[in-house]
Amino acid sequence: MGKINCIGILTSGGDAPGMNAAIRAITRAGIAAGLKVKGIYRGYEGLINKEIKDFTTENVSNIIQRGGTILKTARSKEFMTPEGRKKAYDNMVEQGIDALIVIGGNGSLAGARIFAEEFDVPCIGLPGTIDNDLNGTDTTIGYDTTLNTIVECVDKIRDTATSHERIFFIEVMGRDAGFLAQNGAIASGAEAAIIPEDSTNADQLEQFISRGIRKSKSSSMVIVSESPKCGAMYYADRVKNEYPEFDVRVSILGHLQRGGSPSASDRILASRLGVGAIRALQEGQRNVMIGIRNDEVVYVPFCNAIKSDKPIKKELIDVLGILSI
Ligand code: F6P
Repeated sequence: MGKINCIGILTSGGDAPGMNAAIRAITRAGIAAGLKVKGIYRGYEGLINKEIKDFTTENVSNIIQRGGTILKTARSKEFMTPEGRKKAYDNMVEQGIDALIVIGGNGSLAGARIFAEEFDVPCIGLPGTIDNDLNGTDTTIGYDTTLNTIVECVDKIRDTATSHERIFFIEVMGRDAGFLAQNGAIASGAEAAIIPEDSTNADQLEQFISRGIRKSKSSSMVIVSESPKCGAMYYADRVKNEYPEFDVRVSILGHLQRGGSPSASDRILASRLGVGAIRALQEGQRNVMIGIRNDEVVYVPFCNAIKSDKPIKKELIDVLGILSI
């Protein structure tokens, strides 16, 4: 692959607040660097189906404050097949796109990694997911906004929980990661978080019951990470059966967590990462995710970024435990 003259940008997987700020930053930094920029619609699907448009600075005007993604998004089944990826590559060549910038989560960057390896195409990733589950970056685009949304919701639920003296199990997103639940619980003053990273969930529930409720709190909030088997409903049912004296309710926050105007932090993060993506290409980087660690822009090889083992600090678990007495 020779000199890069034209880049394609796509968003893929679950949308996240701040994706638009990232699209804006990549487009403007790309144009400032003398590159042609093309927007690819509906993620990898759009690359396969040629839903591609030339972008100017005007295409990204007035979007930094908007949630969702102006490029739309999808989880492409066809791109998971070698035939789908070949179609995508042929279209890329036909459109004169020399490098791809993918904004998305784990699955989307895993797709970029395979594509880059198969066709020797320079790909750069931006961590765009509310789940914060990508390694090598302190945080991901959308995570801070979603955390704030969760806190706002929990504050509201607490009003009614206190009035009725109820226990609420509030289920939050995060896929297989507990960052939203753990930090959402700390920030909202919840009594407990039940997260996949902590294998002592059952004991945690027991501890919470004896510690929180028996100290006659007027309400109790437990933030539970989504899980097909052990979500908020599961724990609420357990308490109903084992402690029928408590008045228990469940609230599943669902997709409202993904919407809304991005926070200032997410806008700044997305802007820095977008500019960082163009700089990375200029430096000859390829097949890396742009991240921020300790306030420095870093390049993280895809294979490291997508390892699904980003740890939750034990200290965060301790903080919640100490403050919820
Ligand atoms: O990865 C982002 C995310 O919002 C996860 O937290 C959640 O499990 C999933 O996407 C939901 O996906 P969908 O919008 O397809 O229901």
